[in-house]
Amino acid sequence: MAPDLTVVIPTFNERGNLQPLIARLHRVLAGLAWEAIFVDDNSPDGTADALRAIGRLDPRIRCLRRVGRRGLAGACIEGMLAAQAPVVAVMDADLQHDESLLPRMLEAMSQGAELVVATRYAPGGDADGFSGWRGLGSRLATRLAQRVLKVTSSDPMSGFFMLRRDSVEQLAPKLSTQGFKILLDILATSRGRLKVTELTYSFGVRQSGDSKLDNRVLMDFLGLIVAKATGGLVSLRFLSFATVGAAGLVVHLATLRVGLAFDLRFLVAQAIATVAAMTFNYVLNNVLTYRDRRLSGWAFLRGLLAFYLICGLGAAANVGVADWAFYQTERWWLAGIAGACIGAVWNYAMSRALVWKD
Ligand code: GDD
Ligand code: MN
Repeated sequence: MAPDLTVVIPTFNERGNLQPLIARLHRVLAGLAWEAIFVDDNSPDGTADALRAIGRLDPRIRCLRRVGRRGLAGACIEGMLAAQAPVVAVMDADLQHDESLLPRMLEAMSQGAELVVATRYAPGGDADGFSGWRGLGSRLATRLAQRVLKVTSSDPMSGFFMLRRDSVEQLAPKLSTQGFKILLDILATSRGRLKVTELTYSFGVRQSGDSKLDNRVLMDFLGLIVAKATGGLVSLRFLSFATVGAAGLVVHLATLRVGLAFDLRFLVAQAIATVAAMTFNYVLNNVLTYRDRRLSGWAFLRGLLAFYLICGLGAAANVGVADWAFYQTERWWLAGIAGACIGAVWNYAMSRALVWKD
């Protein structure tokens, strides 16, 4: 018999939480036809093996095991798409989500809701399971998301929600697989077309293991906000690239100053300063801006040479545009800014396409 509800549970190193979670699901969903799909990103702690052992005795439990990939959002999407039931719920494995809400969420769906969000931030709910700083951060992120993305949900960052599988099938091609923002993405992408119902609950304390929300997840979230706030014009990568560029200017001037202090000819000192600044920018962009696709070994050297070439052409474009703008406007500062902007955008676009290839 096909189940009525599929519970999708993303896991990364959650072995210690599996038994208690599954026992709780059996308790609250007794009498319903349900299945649980765990989506595990090949956790080193053996979560997938533990699930296989459980699944041998308990046919409701399945594990989708992914290799070579990480990401909460992508795991949730694949789990929902693999569901048998027409209705799917997503929840965390660490017992921070109150599973006793599931039957009420299902009831809301049968009463016409198209997306049920379990919220921590509505009267009656709380997020006491977060430590002080995490709690503040979560509230701040929630505000930011509500403002910038114009979503009205009280908890758009919730990892606990329910919707119809066919809604997911429609939205899936447009959803991002990175980071933690799966519900936020569903809300923003469906642009108010899904009828949302919210149910409040109290966010518990993680039972076993550690949170996986790290700096990378945070940067990914900020990236989405910056991109949306600027209508896709500015990305977090570009901001990082531009900041590195500004730091590079300081390196350039400092090197030039030192070179002149050593009585080098201006042209020679300027050339050395330029190479120093380009090298500095390359290394820093490799470590920061493109830390997720960092180059090393021969690729690092090849990238450096390509970067010199790109920046050289960028400088030529900079001077050319500035010269043209100066004759058009006769405002030296406007011409200077125009040249610098064109140069920066050129360097960014070309190095992104040819050096770090994203
Ligand atoms: N498959 C997979 N891949 N699962 C993951 C990954 C991943 O890369 N990263 C995290 N998970 C799983 C965890 O194993 C857990 O079951 C669930 O996703 C939530 O991860 P936590 O690491 O426990 O997140 P949190 O408790 O710090 O964050 C909470 O707040 C966020 C923001 O408000 C959760 O409720 C999130 O869902 C929520 O987005
Ligand atoms: Mn958690």
